[in-house]
Amino acid sequence: MNKSIERVLTYSSKFALILIALVGAYACKSVLNTSEEEKMQVREKSDFNKGWSFHLGDQQNAQDPNFNSSQWRTLNLPHDWSIEGEFSEKHPAGTGGGALPGGIGWYRKAFTVDEADKGKVFYIDFDGVYSNSEVWINGQSLGKRPNGYISFRYDLTPHLKYGNEQNVIAVKVDNAQQPNSRWYSGSGIYRNVWLTKVNPVHVAHWGTYVTTPEVSEQSAKVTISTKVNNRGQQPGTYSLTNIVYDTTGAEVARVTSEDVQLQSVENEINQELTVNNPKLWSVEDPYLYRVVTLVEQKGEVVDNYETPLGIRYFNFDVEKGFTLNGKPMKILGVCNHHDLGALGAAINTRALERQLEIMKGMGVNGIRTAHNPPAPELLELCDKMGFIVMDEVFDMWKKSKSKYDYSLAWDEWHEQDLKDFIRRDRNHPSVFIWSIGNEIPEQWGLEGTPIAKELAGIVKSLDRTRPITAGLNEPYPHNSIYQSGVLDLVGFNYHHQDFEKFPETFPGQKFIATETTSALATRGHYDMPSDSIRRWPYKWDEPFTDGNKDLTVSAYDNVSTPWGSTHEETWKVMKKHDFLSGMFIWTGFDYLGEPTPYGWPARSSYFGVVDLAGFPKDAYYMYKSEWTDEPVLHVFPHWNWEPGKTVDVWAYYNNADEVELFLNGKSLGTKKKEGNDLHVMWRIPYQPGTLKAVSRKGGQEVLTREVKTTGAPAKIVLEADRRNINADGKDLSFVTVKIVDKEGNVVPKADNLVRFNVEGNAFIAGVDNGLQTSMEPFKTNQRAAFNGLALVILQAKEEAGEVKLTATSKGLESESVTITLKE
Ligand code: GAL
Repeated sequence: MNKSIERVLTYSSKFALILIALVGAYACKSVLNTSEEEKMQVREKSDFNKGWSFHLGDQQNAQDPNFNSSQWRTLNLPHDWSIEGEFSEKHPAGTGGGALPGGIGWYRKAFTVDEADKGKVFYIDFDGVYSNSEVWINGQSLGKRPNGYISFRYDLTPHLKYGNEQNVIAVKVDNAQQPNSRWYSGSGIYRNVWLTKVNPVHVAHWGTYVTTPEVSEQSAKVTISTKVNNRGQQPGTYSLTNIVYDTTGAEVARVTSEDVQLQSVENEINQELTVNNPKLWSVEDPYLYRVVTLVEQKGEVVDNYETPLGIRYFNFDVEKGFTLNGKPMKILGVCNHHDLGALGAAINTRALERQLEIMKGMGVNGIRTAHNPPAPELLELCDKMGFIVMDEVFDMWKKSKSKYDYSLAWDEWHEQDLKDFIRRDRNHPSVFIWSIGNEIPEQWGLEGTPIAKELAGIVKSLDRTRPITAGLNEPYPHNSIYQSGVLDLVGFNYHHQDFEKFPETFPGQKFIATETTSALATRGHYDMPSDSIRRWPYKWDEPFTDGNKDLTVSAYDNVSTPWGSTHEETWKVMKKHDFLSGMFIWTGFDYLGEPTPYGWPARSSYFGVVDLAGFPKDAYYMYKSEWTDEPVLHVFPHWNWEPGKTVDVWAYYNNADEVELFLNGKSLGTKKKEGNDLHVMWRIPYQPGTLKAVSRKGGQEVLTREVKTTGAPAKIVLEADRRNINADGKDLSFVTVKIVDKEGNVVPKADNLVRFNVEGNAFIAGVDNGLQTSMEPFKTNQRAAFNGLALVILQAKEEAGEVKLTATSKGLESESVTITLKE
């Protein structure tokens, strides 16, 4: 095999190795040592992302191994060519799709395989290619895959050449026919690609299924079903062992089946073991075990495979709602699309992790993968960080929502795609709910029933441990998807006014708010008065021109779509009743596309609690005050207005009885939340100076916040989220750029153009400012600030050292920040 292919140990095995070293001094017998771990590493899963050639546009015969692609661009995957393009309303994706280009693209990669590897089996795994991909090896087509979100594998073995002869993989990606998605999809091989080398006898693709049917404080029964392929010529006798390790690398349970006859097909072996005194997985303490599967013959390991294991039990109750490990909790979730803002759809683990960290900070404990199979890394992170995932597979079935969408492939592909989705994701402890579809048009006709039954049948044939739901539009019992009787949880999108009637309308049913809210906001923009609620646009299918001329939306929580609600409206109902087991806000982050209520030149959404660049809007702190125990006092808006203007000042707070507001030292009164209030407000004539809020509990000060009238922009401040990152070619440092006055206060309307220069082994992966109408490219080295802020994302190269980022802007004092890249 090509020497340049780096062999990767999975995260958890690396983790175990580190821990083994740490605990080595007093290691008990059952802790794995490094050589044992190495002996068990027979399977090789290699990162296959490096050194691809790429050409944008169609090419005749580019699948031909002799095709000359030497003039093509060289790049590393994951790659999204759409995000590199220019915004235009003429792109066929439309503003709904983010107004970025689609098209056809080709990727090629050459590699060699050692003679010594003759007899091994090689698979190529694509985590996701958007969309309509076809893959060839050495000119042989391996298959096509229309669904751009699904993960898939091809067997390379029969077509491989060995020794010095080159093998050529070619991938054609066709995202030309648009619209095919209701949001930004990205284009290309935008998720990771892996090369897996195994012996002919090996655990099948997604070949384990681990469940915990009985869990108590004292013990957990773990059942493991393992599928093993025997691709050799002869049946043979093997042993199959499954071992459970805890996070320290200590073995906590093991089961071996001896004398297993493996036929020359797929074989299934069922085993059971017990973990004593299990540490339970929860959102606060997401304790992860790992299950190592070993296939052995005569004492030699012929394959090893790893599956995550989180031991937890949960229930949805008609009256009491959701409990995790016996404890009541509400699922406080957000829906997110898959784009990563300025990085587009190209997956990056650190970018996903940052999104989840920001959500954790707000008190979010649930994620809905709206409306498609996510990148595997998202689920791995949710396992590790403690999120409850509603894993959703389809946004449409047979009836289309946009002209060229997946409905065209439905008949041929839905069964395979759904099976692959469940098989891939069913071992993740973070996955709690399967959603078989979002706002499916068939719900209004009779077809909803048979298709829902078929899909639920497929899901249940592969996993019976999680409830099935669907995001229904119509919360009425005549809905044909509801009528199918297959929904374990009845899921509504929106209709918060109907939540309280649920027990009457759906007697004996369990509830989940699959999608809520659709409130709208532009970060840092405020229209007065703040207490009149606007429903924009008036109708979803009519052009809307009555909003603000500059296509902003006020960030007081008082603008929503007519089908949705403000953040407070839904949360007020939701928090009242236990039977309302949880909710998923539309959306955690702004995303590319769907710029409701506006059209072009708006090109990204206003729905996020956090903007596209990752900067929280004010409503973030309402949730934080309600969803976390951390003390919150958030006062807004900014304090730069025309003298005499009447300004509404809001405060979100918790852990306190009241808040007193002062302007230039003079008290404007003390306010407290009454009844079901979620904020307090003062309406005051503006005078420049300092607004100060003080929250108190029992007369004792809890928190103090100040908002100051600022002077003109004077300098740039850079704040890196991490100053130490890995020199692994992937890691990121997200640097917030603040435009501040002489005193260091962020200037609320500052829009200075900032240029960036990088010295050292990193490059700019993207820039942004969160403004929904910005036409500036994401892949460049400058960005205008928007409402005082911008973002620059630095990506590590593969050499350790120091990186210096300098930001300059005409008339402003410049600033630098140094980031260290570690081996
Ligand atoms: C919902 C839909 C989402 C998104 C949202 C915007 O109806 O499920 O995908 O379009 O509306 O409000």
